[in-house]
Amino acid sequence: MKKYLVIGKPIEHSLSPKLHNYWFKKYNIKNCFYEKKEIEEKDLPIIYNQIKKGELEGVNVTLPFKKSVLSLLDILEISAKETQSVNTIFKKDGQVIGTNTDWVGFHDSLKKFYLPTQKNLNEKNIFILGAGGVSASIIYSLQKLGGNIFISNRTKKKAEDLKNLFPQINIIIWGKKPPKCDIVINTTSIGLNKKDRIDLDFSDYNKDELFFDLIYNPIETNFLREARLRGNQTINGKMMFLNQAAYAFYHWTGQLPEINNEVIRFLDL
Ligand code: ATR
Repeated sequence: MKKYLVIGKPIEHSLSPKLHNYWFKKYNIKNCFYEKKEIEEKDLPIIYNQIKKGELEGVNVTLPFKKSVLSLLDILEISAKETQSVNTIFKKDGQVIGTNTDWVGFHDSLKKFYLPTQKNLNEKNIFILGAGGVSASIIYSLQKLGGNIFISNRTKKKAEDLKNLFPQINIIIWGKKPPKCDIVINTTSIGLNKKDRIDLDFSDYNKDELFFDLIYNPIETNFLREARLRGNQTINGKMMFLNQAAYAFYHWTGQLPEINNEVIRFLDL
């Protein structure tokens, strides 16, 4: 049996096992099983050794280990290097390799739901809330699409660290917002608990802005709910989640799963 794992803390909310086990079945990839495991940072070397020895076939990494896992790996693919963030690990020619499929997951969701109506993001202002593990992947994506990027984080140092990686981004003090933005993206964990609220008032923005929350469980955070009630377009993290998972699955099996209504509905069950 080939074993796959998603590691993080907390991990209870993760739908990755449900999704990957569905795809193993759908594509008739036999003897594979995917589980979730809550770990501590000190357990990361154990996970690395299990992959190296072939006891684990593939691993997804989620909060808060996307960065701390970097130094353990034998090889980083360019996306992982440039974002300093790993969400997918696999072994090739005896080497344990880390890659990042979050950026392409975000990229594909934005392209599908927003860009058809807007040619590209040039001249657009984009406001990112949060500078945690996944924020670099979002910036990396947006870089490829154009646009002016503003970022705000409670802990300013983390926003500054991101600016070292991506010098063109503009830092906004936490609690403030740029006067006008076309896309507002929540990358913080505020909203994972349904009652959480981001303490920022966007009611002076107009109705053309897109509000994107990377959280997919709960389906609608207060951030998105309030935006929807104001009449704005909203996207939750579900499509990004599906797309990042599809590319991870491709790395492990050579099969790129189709993202269709069937799998979208399956996740909601
Ligand atoms: P980390 O970067 O520490 O690994 P993460 O889970 O990847 O953590 O990111 C969590 C993000 O949500 C961070 O941007 C975090 O802000 P800090 O860097 O200041 O911790 C943000 N976040 C979580 N809870 C928050 C809160 N109550 N208020 C503001 N920001 C919060």
